[in-house]
Amino acid sequence: MKMIWNDRLVSAEECRIHPEDRGYQFGDGVYEVISVYDGNLFQLDRHLKRLQYSTGQMLIPLPFSIHEIKQKLIRLVQENDVCNGQIYMQITRGYAPRSHAIPSKVSPELIAYPMYHPRPVKEQEEGSRAVTAEDIRWLRCDIKSLNLLGNILAKQIAVDHGAKETILHREGIVTEGSSSNVFIVKDGQLMTRRADNLILNGITRSLVIELAGQENIPLFERSFTVDELKSADEVFITSTIQEILPITKVDESKIGRQQPGPITKRLQDRFRSYITTS
Ligand code: PDD
Repeated sequence: MKMIWNDRLVSAEECRIHPEDRGYQFGDGVYEVISVYDGNLFQLDRHLKRLQYSTGQMLIPLPFSIHEIKQKLIRLVQENDVCNGQIYMQITRGYAPRSHAIPSKVSPELIAYPMYHPRPVKEQEEGSRAVTAEDIRWLRCDIKSLNLLGNILAKQIAVDHGAKETILHREGIVTEGSSSNVFIVKDGQLMTRRADNLILNGITRSLVIELAGQENIPLFERSFTVDELKSADEVFITSTIQEILPITKVDESKIGRQQPGPITKRLQDRFRSYITTS
């Protein structure tokens, strides 16, 4: 496997991250996970726009222009012959003697490499289970930062309960999944939380909102409670890796007929045809 390490294309063994890299010590960096379908980086411009937003919010200067990063990622896909999979990329603030304050002399470090999570086709067809938990993360979840400890601990709750995802809430109001956004359907209306500081504005989320418009499905970007989640007709989560994944049980509550619902299926169909035509 070849990977990007700043301005070089190297093997994983050649890549040397400094022990005082601030990503490693503080989680001081940002990342993106981008799908590759048929050799094409999916929604690349949107991912790069979000990368720019995240680095801007964290006061990390981009080590290369967006155009250069784009060219590098395209070359990475070609060099590794990636047909279907994902590209993981991260930019850390760089390395400097350990001290909390942002160092004045530091150069950001970019790495990127391919990953091969298979599409969860069976779960997309049959649905999965989710559990709920209090959202204990910081208040800037809109930044795609490397600091994922709250998300990791949340995901582990799902794993420990044999579920796919943990849906988080703050005092009973749903925020998002540990690594996904959440949509519900009630009486033919689709709802998802407004993209505020408490959730990541998912690329898949944005695309689903667009596709819902094309399907004439009424959509409201508004908050909903855990009770509304549990009594919804349909629930699904979205992310780059999960795409659109139906949730048929939340904690002990069955959702609809415990099968992916009609609106979820319409959006899944739209999404699949979008992948093949874009
Ligand atoms: N995570 N919310 C959180 C907390 C996430 O970690 C993710 C994705 C999403 C969905 O974003 P998108 O549709 O842009 O993938 C929402 C990635 C895939 C990950 O950390 O692996």
